[in-house]
Amino acid sequence: MAPEALYLQPREMASATQTPVKGTRPAGAANEQEARQYVRRMFGDIASRYDLLNHLLSGNLDRWWRGRTAATFDHILRLPAARVLDVCCGTGDLTLALERRATHSCSAGARIIGSDFAHPMLARAAEKSRAAGRPAPGRIAWLEADALNAPFAPGTFDLITMGWGFRNLTNYESGLREFFRLLRPRGELGILECAEPRGALFGGLFRFYFRTVVPRVGGAISGNGAAYAYLPASVQKFLVPEELARLMCDVGFVDVGYKLWTGGSIALHMGRRPG
Ligand SMILES: C[S@@+](CC[C@H](N)C(=O)[O-])C[C@H]1O[C@@H](n2cnc3c(N)ncnc32)[C@H](O)[C@@H]1O
Repeated sequence: MAPEALYLQPREMASATQTPVKGTRPAGAANEQEARQYVRRMFGDIASRYDLLNHLLSGNLDRWWRGRTAATFDHILRLPAARVLDVCCGTGDLTLALERRATHSCSAGARIIGSDFAHPMLARAAEKSRAAGRPAPGRIAWLEADALNAPFAPGTFDLITMGWGFRNLTNYESGLREFFRLLRPRGELGILECAEPRGALFGGLFRFYFRTVVPRVGGAISGNGAAYAYLPASVQKFLVPEELARLMCDVGFVDVGYKLWTGGSIALHMGRRPG
């Protein structure tokens, strides 16, 4: 893992606040099942405008964040037969970034699966990889599946990643337990997520942009105001980086840490299944 990452020391783990949030609860969802249906339908509804809005609202930084994430796991992607699962892959941009990195590292045998439960998102992912003439035959597969109940045997993967999907899970601890199960001993997990910057000036500007501009622009372009109101609301309610790191430790991950990018508005969480 990269040296600039912040790794939790036992003292810091103990001082992290108690985890207050179990999983996402969109407005009106009474339980996990309703929340799951809401999230699935919402992403299905915005699939056609998802990429455009991602690039627009992030000023194209989303491409850089995914590239940096793939680069962080280069040591796995260059393994001759790396097995990688990109959970909550949506329209596939992180999956494709991982594939490019594996190709760049000359790993001819790497196999990467992008999985998501929203069919329209996955359909766009498949269409995009076909249109780009990528990847080498057999290198990527797309799978419709729930991240909390993935159809794979224990210990299947060397690396599991997810970009902005974890926050949308209806039960964070169950998600981490499932990823732990799916990783082989010494396999690694990378969770790329939004965070709320803490500094007064940048934090204030970020909150104004994220809570006021994003819902308006996102709602107007996607035609789904609720989805782009859910985005800042879900980030506001989400675990702070220390809480997520502590939960990863509780589930059994080791070498747990995170990197903050872009003024603390993006966090890449990392952990390893002990070997
Ligand atoms: C914000 S999008 C992220 C897409 C992509 N990873 C990216 O880099 O842009 C979140 C995705 O997570 C998916 N998702 C949320 N909960 C899920 C679950 N329990 N199982 C599978 N996919 C899920 C949604 O369908 C959506 O496509």
